[in-house]
Order: sequence, then C-alpha cells, then structure tokens
Amino acid sequence: MEETPVTITSPSTAVGPLAASTLVHAGQTGGQWWRDAVIYQVYPRSFADADGDGVGDLRGITSRLDHLAALGVDAVWLSPFYRSPQHDAGYDVADYRQVDPLFGTLEDFDELLATAHGLGIRVIVDLVPNHTSSEHVWFQEALAAGPGSPERARYLFRDGRGEHGELEPNNWRSIFGGNAWTRVTEADGTPGQWYLHLFDSTQPDLDWTNPEVHAEFEQVLRFWLDRGVDGFRVDVAHGMVKADGLPDWDGSVAMVDGSVDGTDPGAPEDGSTGAGNSGPAFDQDGVHEIYRAWHRVLAEYDGDRALVAEAWVEPLSRLARYVRPDEMHQAFNFSFLTTAWKAGPLRTVLAGSLAANDAVGAPTTWVLSNHDVVRHASRLGLGVDGERPNGLFATDPQPDEATGLRRARAATLLMLGLPGSAYLYQGEELGLPDHTALPDEVRQDPAFFRTAGTEAGRDGCRIPLPWQSDAPGFGFGPTGATWLPQPESYGRYAADVQTGVPGSTLETYRAALAARRAHRLGSGTLAWLDAYADADDVVAYRNGDVVVIANLSNRPVVVPRSAEVLVASGDLVRGLNDETSVPTDTTVWLRA
Ligand code: NOJ
Repeated sequence: MEETPVTITSPSTAVGPLAASTLVHAGQTGGQWWRDAVIYQVYPRSFADADGDGVGDLRGITSRLDHLAALGVDAVWLSPFYRSPQHDAGYDVADYRQVDPLFGTLEDFDELLATAHGLGIRVIVDLVPNHTSSEHVWFQEALAAGPGSPERARYLFRDGRGEHGELEPNNWRSIFGGNAWTRVTEADGTPGQWYLHLFDSTQPDLDWTNPEVHAEFEQVLRFWLDRGVDGFRVDVAHGMVKADGLPDWDGSVAMVDGSVDGTDPGAPEDGSTGAGNSGPAFDQDGVHEIYRAWHRVLAEYDGDRALVAEAWVEPLSRLARYVRPDEMHQAFNFSFLTTAWKAGPLRTVLAGSLAANDAVGAPTTWVLSNHDVVRHASRLGLGVDGERPNGLFATDPQPDEATGLRRARAATLLMLGLPGSAYLYQGEELGLPDHTALPDEVRQDPAFFRTAGTEAGRDGCRIPLPWQSDAPGFGFGPTGATWLPQPESYGRYAADVQTGVPGSTLETYRAALAARRAHRLGSGTLAWLDAYADADDVVAYRNGDVVVIANLSNRPVVVPRSAEVLVASGDLVRGLNDETSVPTDTTVWLRA
C-alpha cells in the first residue's frame, strides 16, 4: 500500500555550540519500511559455506542469520544465486527461476526466507534484466534460429559493418574492457551477425523494445514475489534501453565501479563525482516506462515490496527520476560512495542527495561499499582525494591499513546518522579491508581478463568472510576451503574476536544501529551545525536530538560539556581541563 510522504519540521531548538539553524532536510516518512531501513548486502559465494566446497551457499547464509539479527539490520539483499555458469559470479543468469546447485535449492531459499522473516529481517533479491547468460535457453535458441528470427529479436543482434560484415555494428566498448560486440558463427558455419554485450561476451544484452522481454520479466518478478521476497535490487537499471539506432559513442567509458579513466572526481555543486555512465547505452528516457510497469506489479502485493535501482547515473537530479512516486523506491547513491574524504565535498553530496530525492518524495540511500568497489576500509587508506582504482595489485601503492580502518569507521558513523536508508556490505561491520595482494592466477573477475590484466578487478573485495580467528578458512566453512584465498590479517578481524569487545568495529556497528533505531534517525532531519557549517575539515550535523560530528582535521574537536556521548568511531581524548575531544578521522554521536 502506498502512503503519501509526510513532512516533519525540524525539532532543533538547541542554542550555543550545538545550534543548527541551516535546515537541509525536513524529514519524511510515508510509513513504508524501506524509507529508513538498514539493508545488509549478502554476497552469497563469500558469506558462509555450509557444504564445505569453499563457495558460500544459501544454507550457510541461513546458519548465520543470527549474526545479522544481532547486528540490528532491517533487511538483507542477496546478490544472485540463480542458475548460472558463473562467468560473472552469477550476474550471468541462465535460469531466473532456479537456484544454482552451487548455492543450494529452491527449498533452501524458502527456508532462508522463512528464517529471516522469523527474525524480523526482510529479504531483497537481485534481478539482472539487462542481459542473460549466453547459456540461457533464449540465447541458445537465438543462435540456432538465425538472422531475422523472433528468437534473435529478444537480443540485440545486428549485421556487421564493412563489405562482409566483418566490422562491429558500432564502436561501443564493454564496461569490462574490450569491445561490446561478439560475432557469431551461423548454423552453416559462415561468420554471421554480431550481438551486443555491455559486459562480458557471455552476457548478451536483451532487447527491451521487445514486448516478450517485458512479459517474461514481469513473470520473473511474480515468481519471486509469490515466494515472499520483499523486493528486488535491479542490476544495471540505467542500461536496459539503448538510444534508437545504437549510434556510435566517442565519450569515455566508465569502468564497472563507475570510475572513468582520466577524469578528476572534483565536487561540482550538485555533489556529482564523475561516477555516472553516460552515452547512448545508458539512462535513456524509455527505461522509466519499465519501472512504472514493475511498480504496478509490486503494488498488487502486500507488505510494501520495494525496487532499488543500481544505476550509475549523475547528476543526482537525473538519478532521482528513477525514484519518482510511480517508479522505483530507492536508488543506490554512488555519488556519496565516490566522494573524497573531505568535508566540503561531503557536505555538498549530502545536501545534494537529500535535495534531489526530496524533490520527488523519495528517501535518499547511503552506501560506502559493495561487491564492485574497493572496500571503504581500504579505499580510504589510499588517501583523501577519492582514489578508486578498480581493484589493487600487490605492486600498487598499498592502503595504510590503520588509517583506512579509522576513516572507514568514521565514515560509517557519518553515514548511519543520516536520514534515509543505508546499505552495508558484508564484512564492513568487521572492518574488513580488501585483499590487495591476490596472485593473478586466482583472479576470477572478467574485468581482469577483458582488460588484459591492466585492471585488477573486483576479487579483492569478494574474499570469504572470517567468522572464527583460529579455525581453518577462518570458519568460513567446515573444511577450511575458500574459493579465493583470505589474507592472514583476516584472523584479526574475525567475528568471534570482536563479539562482546567494547570498541571493536562489530560492537561499534551494533551500538550505532541500536542508537539509530532508538533515535529514529532514518526518518529524521538534517541541519548543519552552525559552528562548522563552512568548516574545511569538519562535517557536523544535527538529526533530531542527536548531533553527529566527523573530525577530518588534524587537530582535536572539543565536545561541549552538556553533551552525552552515544557512540564514537574511535577512542575520544580526555584533555587537561577534563574536556572530551574528538581526534582526527573520528566521528562521534552526541545526545544534545
Ligand atoms: C553490476 C553488478 O553489481 C556487477 O557485479 C556486475 O558485474 C554487472 N552489473 C553486470 O551484471
């Protein structure tokens, strides 16, 4: 059921050092759970392994749901677990209605869902509608049926350019590197048509001008909605519709994490960081019709089911079009994720995100890590300029682990105090860094291969989780096997050595999520603290009765005596006059 968002006026009445008179966001609540939810991304192959083959699985996830309940999240989002040849870790789906045997069975999924629901945790699943696997029955039929057939019309097959069709139909590049077209051999053995793949050649793009494609995906939505899922994270939500005629494009091609070689992230006034994909393959107006139709499908079901867009779109006002009242419900805020660890750009992106979403009545989302980017504990250890390489090699300048973790915890508290919905990526609650020195022989990301090894790719952020410091494979599964090697340092980050330890990253996340819930920060307000409204190196805001101060400077920030410390991302400092201060790269939540 849809409800109209309600506007709440700012409750800030404080005076003195904690006064906050510049209201940025007046608060919103429509009553739907997703407006202020904390949603935890489970990457199934790396969360927990029940059957001992070294790859995580659905039963492994079910066995660890108590960890997520104790953490205090509202929902999980599961990356793909569908039948797939795993050429892109499951983002190459061969059957949208089956669980891959690697991950278990449909019964295992039903059990996971029931257990999660029993714990009060909602479940969002991944939907990959831009492309199928080349092993999907539709693509196999398309290859067999030949040019001009209705089977080929489900994909983007085109004749080649050049005298004998030997040249690609246009000059588009794959986001994973290399060109975006592959030529097929026709049934009679002759070189034939080309098909478009914005990603790997095993991920042919569907043709979303074909009504059959629409009908099929509506049925896929219903299949999972009928099973009881609470929503869908929609992969490449900005890519399904291409410009008419597939015109050439000479602009830069963003990598899979949204980075574009040679661009300066900067921080223009709207908070854009250069993280958007552009050109004729992305963010075409026609894509919104699809989401209006899907919105109507979800609205037939009870329980406020939600659609979240994975759309690397900028500026933020353009991204907000995906979450207009009759379209999707949330969109990942990659402009926030890609903002440098600098006060000015951070304030700009916070205000820009809230303004853009307020304009359409949608909640803003916040996210710092996922399975496509270097984890924020490593990224922020590289420097403060917002570097975001597509993975790291052992020969690259390495992140400073201690600085990275310190900043990551500070960035997380800065994020979790904000109004809106926050996404966490598995393992960030342990403070995990990337594996930054994987041997090339074990890499699996197609981006590594398609760039001929010039990009390390995303394997480093996908390492199996450490649950127990003294067990083989750090307790990932019963045999010690792990599909990617874990760095030795993961023993120090294991869940068991952090549980119950005050000040550990895990306990800090738990405390923050509990306080966020108790103070209703997710549906709250945001006003800049007057004292730091223009500060170069401090971000400070008030959300209801909570004040959040993130100190990015190299000198301590003194906490007013009247304030009670609720949560801090690191140790606070007691001064000579018994005053408390927030040290460098630390965020504190105060009740004041
Ligand atoms: C975005 C997903 O997050 C990423 O992991 C995947 O490789 C691409 N889409 C292609 O599906």
